Amino acid sequence: MNAKQYKQKLLDQLYAPYIKCMQCPLGKLGRTHVVFGDGNPDAALMFIGEGPGQDEDAQGKPFVGRSGKLLNRLLETAGLERSDVFITNIVKCRPPNNRKPFPSESATCKSILLINQIKIIRPTVICTLGSAAIQGLIDDQNIKISQIRGKVLKYENISVIPTYHPAYILRNPKELTTLFDDIQHAFKLSQKTKR
Ligand code: URA
Repeated sequence: MNAKQYKQKLLDQLYAPYIKCMQCPLGKLGRTHVVFGDGNPDAALMFIGEGPGQDEDAQGKPFVGRSGKLLNRLLETAGLERSDVFITNIVKCRPPNNRKPFPSESATCKSILLINQIKIIRPTVICTLGSAAIQGLIDDQNIKISQIRGKVLKYENISVIPTYHPAYILRNPKELTTLFDDIQHAFKLSQKTKR
């Protein structure tokens, strides 16, 4: 079994008890699927978004709606396939009406799933998309995305590059190149960093 197969097996074992997770209120608020994540289990670059939207909840995969299409386009332009990276969210269940996850929901989901996904995948770089993702990852609700985007932060030993959420770019297309530059920066740094 190679590293990729082994890590996939560990991820499957991690997810199995949580297929119908009820550890936070989002479990009873109309979710269809727990959207664990998708992509290369041995990826050097990992993306973390906010939470599943309607399309993701219906299909059980992250970033498959309008934001996902934009993310795919930017990944391709940077020279990446979706299957090169691992994509997940800070919460794995859709918040009702696409509201921002509550800090308590993010903290619960992170402690059960995200922390363990990161331990298994061991990316060298994490790119967070939007404010909820970086606030949840580094446990700081006061962080302003406009002030820290593009900077290299640390989570454990991993470089973290926070950037805008693709949904924000769909509403503010003039920031498209900023999002692209941050994704490209994250990709280049992940290639340079040894595991
Ligand atoms: N927005 C997110 O934050 N995550 C998804 O999976 C889809 C849209």
